[in-house]
Amino acid sequence: MSKVKVGVVGFGTIGERIADGLAAQEDMELVGVCDVAVSLPVKALIVSGKGYPLYCGTPDKVKDLEAGGATVAGTLDDLLKQVDMVCDATAPGVGAKLKEQYEAHGVKATFQGGEKIGTGDLQFHSLANYDKAYGKDYLHILSCNTTGMARCINSIDRAIGVERVNAMIIRRAADVAETHKGPVDAAIVQKVPSHQCEDIMAVSPHIKALSVVVTLPITHGHVQTLQVHCKQDTSKEQILEIFGQNPRLQIFRIEDGFLSNSHIFDYCRDLGLPRADMYECPVWDEMIHVEGREVWFTQMIPQESIVIPENVDGVRAAMKMQDDYADAIAETNKYLKMGGKV
Ligand SMILES: NC(=O)c1ccc[n+]([C@@H]2O[C@H](COP(=O)([O-])OP(=O)(O)OC[C@H]3O[C@@H](n4cnc5c(N)ncnc54)[C@H](O)[C@@H]3O)[C@@H](O)[C@H]2O)c1
Repeated sequence: MSKVKVGVVGFGTIGERIADGLAAQEDMELVGVCDVAVSLPVKALIVSGKGYPLYCGTPDKVKDLEAGGATVAGTLDDLLKQVDMVCDATAPGVGAKLKEQYEAHGVKATFQGGEKIGTGDLQFHSLANYDKAYGKDYLHILSCNTTGMARCINSIDRAIGVERVNAMIIRRAADVAETHKGPVDAAIVQKVPSHQCEDIMAVSPHIKALSVVVTLPITHGHVQTLQVHCKQDTSKEQILEIFGQNPRLQIFRIEDGFLSNSHIFDYCRDLGLPRADMYECPVWDEMIHVEGREVWFTQMIPQESIVIPENVDGVRAAMKMQDDYADAIAETNKYLKMGGKV
């Protein structure tokens, strides 16, 4: 079977990571990446000699990229002539505008969480609604918080059934290089409900969900506590077993020294993971608590890397590469070195 040809539009925090994730898939060919400015990820691409062909989003910005030392392979139109599908990781709102260009070229796309609802044909999470996304043209990937929630909720739902979820989300204020968002010393509150619960109900309509958000001045991951009301009584042992069967979740123990999001981030650096990125979603063992049908757990969201596997799954669904969700997830995981079949 010939490889599916893919591109990445918007080579920022998320785009550079999606590009690496797609390049690792042996059944896909990363034809090129596209941006309009010599952002730090683009500068690093040029300096690293990684070799992803760089295309320019708009013809008038070609000279800016060249002035920054880039060899420009062509414009976005040139890239779109060569690919089956792109992962759009441009700044919020830009993807919705570029969609017309994708449609004109008959190119499918994933869009990221920052885009408005309705930009894609549907909101997508591979564990929740892969079958509905199969063969569709435009998939809206869940945001980072919601992706972590969906991995846990759907693992429990597939095993014992879930009726309702309440989530308390503590959001990081900014990614590491977003110094323009700080420094701050405040806990910023926002109106209930936050979008995450609405996104969960969009991909899993049979589950009722409510989420609230407080944003703190931290950078290395969101932390969120979920209360899940299951369809039957369960136990901590069973929840650990269910989470243990999903290779996109990883259990960490406070007892072992993982006292915070920063400790997990630091551990990833010590492991030598590229950019200290985790594709897996950490869940703290000692923060899992079960009473009858009620399950509480707390997870960390590595916000910059967690949505990469689901973007790759989105390509698999839209391009009909695997007709079963578990096979698609297993293929993505294999190339991302995440483990076996869920
Ligand atoms: N950063 C996170 O933690 C995170 C997590 C999950 C989802 N998301 C979502 O991912 C999307 C991208 O976020 P990000 O943090 O990577 O943003 P970013 O600002 O780091 O990257 C966006 C990139 O798009 C480029 N761009 C803008 N207009 C363009 C155009 N017309 N053509 C090509 N490139 C263009 C910008 O130059 C920039 O490099 C957003 O929807 C965001 O909500 C972000």
